[in-house]
Amino acid sequence: MTDNVVIGPLDLAARVDEALDVQAHAFGLSDEEVAVRRQIVLRHLTYPGARSFGATTPDDRLVGFVYGMPNDRRHWWSTVVEPYLRGRQLDGWLDDSFVITELHVHPGHQNRGIGRSLITTITEGVAEPRSILSAIDVESPARGLYRSLGYTDLARRVLFPSAAKPYAVMGAPLPLPRRG
Ligand SMILES: CC(C)(COP(=O)(O)OP(=O)(O)OC[C@H]1O[C@@H](n2cnc3c(N)ncnc32)[C@H](O)[C@@H]1OP(=O)(O)O)[C@@H](O)C(=O)NCCC(=O)NCCS
Repeated sequence: MTDNVVIGPLDLAARVDEALDVQAHAFGLSDEEVAVRRQIVLRHLTYPGARSFGATTPDDRLVGFVYGMPNDRRHWWSTVVEPYLRGRQLDGWLDDSFVITELHVHPGHQNRGIGRSLITTITEGVAEPRSILSAIDVESPARGLYRSLGYTDLARRVLFPSAAKPYAVMGAPLPLPRRG
């Protein structure tokens, strides 16, 4: 990794505004969406097993973050994707699975291995034997990265009530492969 960026555990509740600033630059979020996400992130962090990792520069600027948690079928995200997976007899992926809820790297630091390192690090040492996530259903760096880590499509064209674009749901066995 370049830039002397360090990957390590992140106190996301304490640094939620910095993290959402990274997400706003990487993913595009309006001020209103940031305010909504802020409440959602803080609630997610109270869920059992929630964990987060960050990428920080030597002067302690946050340039990337990831967070996730063991899936719970009662959580909103899981209830939305469940019918799509059940239709293909793949809803067993919702059990014993670690969900990647958000992964973002500031555009000024992308393509240097930070995203790959964040997602492999957060999934290392979790109890679950697999991981699931959703990504906008287009070819993108995110989809390319997930595929290269062993994630395959479990469902396509998944519609979240609040989102304009359809998503793909992807799943991978853990541990994710580390680059040699
Ligand atoms: C997805 C994201 C987190 C990746 O972070 P990153 O630090 O740039 O990723 P890395 O440098 O670790 O890995 C890049 C990998 O992405 C893939 N990738 C990069 N650019 C790509 C492209 N144009 N097309 C396809 N795959 C691409 C490759 O698999 C590449 O791996 P490799 O070059 O090592 O083989 C980052 O691009 C991002 O924040 N995007 C915007 C927000 C977003 O979409 N987040 C995910 C929401 S689901």
